[in-house]
Amino acid sequence: GSGGASSLERTLAMIKPDGVSGNYSDLIKRIIVEASFNIVKEMLTLLDEQTASAFYLEHSSRTFFPHLVTYMTSGPVLVMVLEKRNAVSDWRGLIGPTDAQKAKISHPHSIRALCGKDLQRNCVHGSDSTSSAEREIKFFFKDVVSGDVASQHDEL
Ligand code: PPS
Repeated sequence: GSGGASSLERTLAMIKPDGVSGNYSDLIKRIIVEASFNIVKEMLTLLDEQTASAFYLEHSSRTFFPHLVTYMTSGPVLVMVLEKRNAVSDWRGLIGPTDAQKAKISHPHSIRALCGKDLQRNCVHGSDSTSSAEREIKFFFKDVVSGDVASQHDEL
């Protein structure tokens, strides 16, 4: 794409086990649609240890990694591809800070403030950059083109 159309993006969003089991999926999807995202793909799935470890590979040396993998495999997750202009940063803004406890103070209207519990049970995931988004979308949806999708549309 070119000019203003170039900012149409896709990002990977995931409702984590605490969000799905806490019945937050419908509320979060309403917030997503009201914020003008298009839900391009969605998949309810139970991650196994190998898949969760591979998804969070960049954090594999962190002390919290085993806890993160145990948590992320503890129940179903809802994985979604979201599309809008500036999808990556807009979705990160909407979900709020990583630590849901801090989010409740600093960003009380964020999704993590509304639905999360703490640093681990923070209800949702969002890609942190356009390159992460591309990798993460391919990880879950091998048939979806990610990143700048403007070239797929005639007029934006
Ligand atoms: S960092 O330091 O900026 O790289 O970490 P951050 O991006 O904040 O967190 C990366 C993901 O790891 C999760 N996380 C944790 N899980 C369990 N326990 C602890 N202590 C912990 N700290 C961070 C955090 O929720 C992030 O998950 P995603 O899905 O990427 O949001």
